[in-house]
Amino acid sequence: MPTSADFKPTPVLTKRIPEDRAQRTTVWYDQYVATGGYKTLEKAIAMQPAEIVEQVKGAVLRGRGGAGFPAGLKWSFLPPADGGPRYLAINCDEAEPGTFKDRLLVDFDPHAVLEGIAIAAYACQMQTAYFFIRGEYHHQAKVFQKALEEAYKNGIFGKQGLMRGASKLAVDVVLHRSAGAYICGEETALLEAIEGKRGWPRVKPPFPAVKGLFGRPTIINNVETLAAAVPILEHGVDWWKKLGVESTLPGGMPSYGTKLMGVSGHVNKPNTYELELGIPLRMLVEKHCGGMRNGKKFKAAIAGGVSMGVLGTDQYDAPMDFDIGRKYDVLGLGTACPTVFDEDTDMVAVARNISRFFKAESCGQCTPCREGSGWLLKLLTRIEKGAGTTQDLDMLLEIAGSMGLTPGTTICGLADGNNWAIRTIVNKFRPEFEKRVSPRFVPVYVSATAGR
Ligand SMILES: Cc1cc2nc3c(=O)[nH]c(=O)nc-3n(C[C@H](O)[C@H](O)[C@H](O)COP(=O)(O)O)c2cc1C
Ligand code: SF4
Repeated sequence: MPTSADFKPTPVLTKRIPEDRAQRTTVWYDQYVATGGYKTLEKAIAMQPAEIVEQVKGAVLRGRGGAGFPAGLKWSFLPPADGGPRYLAINCDEAEPGTFKDRLLVDFDPHAVLEGIAIAAYACQMQTAYFFIRGEYHHQAKVFQKALEEAYKNGIFGKQGLMRGASKLAVDVVLHRSAGAYICGEETALLEAIEGKRGWPRVKPPFPAVKGLFGRPTIINNVETLAAAVPILEHGVDWWKKLGVESTLPGGMPSYGTKLMGVSGHVNKPNTYELELGIPLRMLVEKHCGGMRNGKKFKAAIAGGVSMGVLGTDQYDAPMDFDIGRKYDVLGLGTACPTVFDEDTDMVAVARNISRFFKAESCGQCTPCREGSGWLLKLLTRIEKGAGTTQDLDMLLEIAGSMGLTPGTTICGLADGNNWAIRTIVNKFRPEFEKRVSPRFVPVYVSATAGR
């Protein structure tokens, strides 16, 4: 069992961002450079692009956008350059409820994000990067635009080539503001949106690395993933692998590095913390977040975005790493931004509220998601009001379990999020649901002559 000394705050991505929110101010270009910024880009462009991909692969940098797919491996899926355009798309949609981590970097250290983008563009030999930002992030879009202008003015991007022409690869970065739909965070819906179409996820394969934006090879990565490529190249793979934890599952992939963890809900100090992967949730709450609010007891938590499902009362010690899905019956670590619930929380209301979100955000292409999300909301509303029956509870689990990529009935993972959120809440807090429903009596007709 790790001790609390093993999980002290580790500012890697946040080395220029104080934990105290009152002390945070945006780090602009001059301050970024004065504190070592863009030195790693300089180092990167002195290397062969393939060497960088190998380093990121060796570091097992797992995607920070929710799925945990290794970034270096994804980059290596790109077909060999054929002289045509290739694109990088940076996912800053961050519309998953309870998730607020990418905005911390954009708000306060936008050049750290831009340096990661420049390194990834060079490693993958891409000429254009689209920075796709959540529609509601008005302030962050302004900050990013200003930082981007500074980067162009100082020759990081633009037609002279990266880093004032030190590399002949000329990279342009385009800020694309979303219209504000959760589904546009799904990587192929994001590509459709950038192309100016309705944000409808695409059927895969083909995968974006082969056929993405405008039909050309495209890599989509989360903001935090790209920002993490900078310290990996700066300090080396061995240094990175000392942070985080190995998998304890047979043949499991490790969870190396630090992670931004935005904690919300019933804790004393909600905030975004940077900690090593593997910190037990209890330690995160009790040590870093000042414990549960009003001295109440822990009841449940969503590991990282409502799509992941809930950890039950007896799962407070779950380590925040990528093994969590298989070990604690949740979908996964997701964005590692937990929402914490205290003992007074009505889990039926939580489930109903989450299902309302998924019903509103389903894009409607797949029948199980479009219709199923409506049925889940109807059933949960009825149960919450005390008008449901035990049969409704069974139906709830049956409908939820039939929706998603895993049962193989939908195009994208939004439906899996709905499925896991509802099933885990019902299964882990079933007595609360049972108290709210009445038994459904099945009439039994007995023949007048029975028993004679
Ligand atoms: C419904 C839905 C919403 C998503 N929203 C986001 C998001 O806001 N930000 C993000 O980075 N990834 C989001 N993802 C995951 C992306 O599809 C994709 O896996 C990710 O951007 C890849 O980047 P990474 O490998 O660096 O994590 C979402 C996925 C789904 C199914
Ligand atoms: S699963 Fe839902 S959100 Fe995803 S494509 Fe199908 S209908 Fe749209």
